[in-house]
Amino acid sequence: MKASDIEPSWNGVVKFLHWLVALLIFTQFALGWLAATWRLSPTKLDLFVWHKSIGMVVLALVVLRLVWRLATPAPPLPAAMPAWERAAARTSHLLLYVVMLGMPLTGWVINSASGVPFKIFWRVPLPSITAVDKHAAEVAALVHFSLGVLLALLLLVHIGAALRHHFIRRDNVLIRMLPARTLSK
Ligand code: HEM
Ligand code: HEM
Repeated sequence: MKASDIEPSWNGVVKFLHWLVALLIFTQFALGWLAATWRLSPTKLDLFVWHKSIGMVVLALVVLRLVWRLATPAPPLPAAMPAWERAAARTSHLLLYVVMLGMPLTGWVINSASGVPFKIFWRVPLPSITAVDKHAAEVAALVHFSLGVLLALLLLVHIGAALRHHFIRRDNVLIRMLPARTLSK
């Protein structure tokens, strides 16, 4: 018997990282939008330091989460779920991971290509990953923005699907991601 056959809940580390990253990503949408639209002032620069610093923390947490996720078994989906829903869940989760990595990486490229010196939380200098190039910075900013729109759309589907599982299907898919674990299948 596989561990996943008797484990109906996500393991605690996956749950903790899911909700921490979710919280930070919602914060990042607000900070990114505020920083980009604020009038030029010391506050705007501070907003950008927070946005970029938290973004680099998200990058580290998502890498850790992926490693943990691949090293531990995922609980099986409810047996009654049709094949197309299983495929949709797999594809949307994969896309969420790609975009969760793509957002901070494109942010890092904007920062490097625009040549703006930046220290994570005013302390740790972020090394450059590209040469300074104004055009590349503009392209990276466009990709960063587009990935943000894609992420917002994916999250609408993701949260909608979680609520559908809970209130319409009445299965344990949402409950098993919540901090308090359940043993009901
Ligand atoms: C989870 C990670 C991230 C999310 C969800 C996120 C989201 C956003 C959003 C919604 C905006 C406003 C829309 C826009 O103008 O593009 C933005 C702007 C920006 N972000 Fe991020 N971001 C993340 C990580 C980062 C990182 C790590 C950096 C840099 C190290 C960064 C640098 C920037 C910059 C420079 C802008 C302004 C772009 C412009 O002037 O057009 N972001 N981000
Ligand atoms: C109110 C917000 C959210 C709710 C209610 C929610 C709900 C859930 C639930 C119930 C699962 C488990 C699905 C399963 O068992 O197959 C899940 C998985 C997942 N969620 Fe969320 N989520 C939320 C926000 C987010 C955010 C902001 C992100 C990232 C941007 C995210 C990314 C993921 C990913 C990648 C998985 C797949 C887990 C894995 O296979 O490693 N979620 N979510």
